[in-house]
Amino acid sequence: MMTDQQDNQTAALVEAGRWLLAQGTEFKFGVVALEALPAPDRIEIAFAGRSNVGKSSLINALTGTKGLARTSNTPGRTQELNFFLLAPQRNDGAAWLVDLPGYGYARESKTKIAAWNKLLNAYLRGRPNLRRIFMLVDSRHGLKKNDLAMMDDLDMAAVSYQIVLTKTDKLKSGALDALIEQTQTALQKRPAAHPEIIATSSEKNQGIELVRAAIASLVDLSELGYKA
Ligand code: GTP
Ligand code: MG
Repeated sequence: MMTDQQDNQTAALVEAGRWLLAQGTEFKFGVVALEALPAPDRIEIAFAGRSNVGKSSLINALTGTKGLARTSNTPGRTQELNFFLLAPQRNDGAAWLVDLPGYGYARESKTKIAAWNKLLNAYLRGRPNLRRIFMLVDSRHGLKKNDLAMMDDLDMAAVSYQIVLTKTDKLKSGALDALIEQTQTALQKRPAAHPEIIATSSEKNQGIELVRAAIASLVDLSELGYKA
C-alpha cells in the first residue's frame, strides 16, 4: 500500500516527468566506437534489452514523437548507440537518452556480435555520467538468459538498472501480476537493480508516464527552470 505522502510524491514526479519530456528531444548522432562518445558532461540514461523488445518504440512514446527513434519489425534495426538530447533548449540539454542496439539477435555474424558486445561492455563500464539503464523485457517472455547475463555485468560494474516490461497490451489479463512478482523475486539479490518494475505498452501509451517520472527523478529539475 502506498501512503498519501508517497502518492503525492509520485504525482509530483509524474507531473515533472510530463513537463520534462515535453521540452523536446533531438537526435544528435549515432556512435559505433568509444572514441566517438560525447563528453560525459550531463547525465545519461540508456535503454537496453534484447533485439525487438521495443527500445526505440519506448523512446518515441516517452517523447511523443513517432519517428524520432527508428523502429522495425525486423530485429537488429538499431545498430549504433544513438544519442538523443533531452530538452535541448534547457541549460544546453537535460540529459542524454541513449538507444542501444539490441542483444540476442542470432542472425548477425559472430564477429559482429563479438565487436558489438565489446563496445557495449566498454560503454557500460566506462561511462561515469550513466545514471540509469532501463532494461527492457518483453512481458510475454520474461527474463531470458542474455538478460540475466546483462544484469550480471551491470551488477559487477555497479551501474543502476531498472526493469521496464514492454508490450503489456499483448498479455492476457492476470498474467502481468504473476510476471511482476516473478521478476521481483529474480531481482532480490541483485545489488544494482532498482526495486521498482515499470509495466508499459508503447502501443497503448500505458505506464509511459511512470518511465517519464523515473527520468525526472534523475534530473536536476530546478537547474532546468522547472517550478513544481
Ligand atoms: P532493435 O533496435 O532491433 O533492437 O529493436 P527495438 O528494441 O528498438 O524494438 P522496436 O522499438 O523497433 O520494436 C520492435 C517491434 O515491436 C516493432 O514492430 C514495434 O511496433 C513493436 N512494439 C514495440 N512496442 C510495442 C508495444 O507496446 N506493443 C506492441 N503490441 N508492439 C510493440
Ligand atoms: Mg531499436
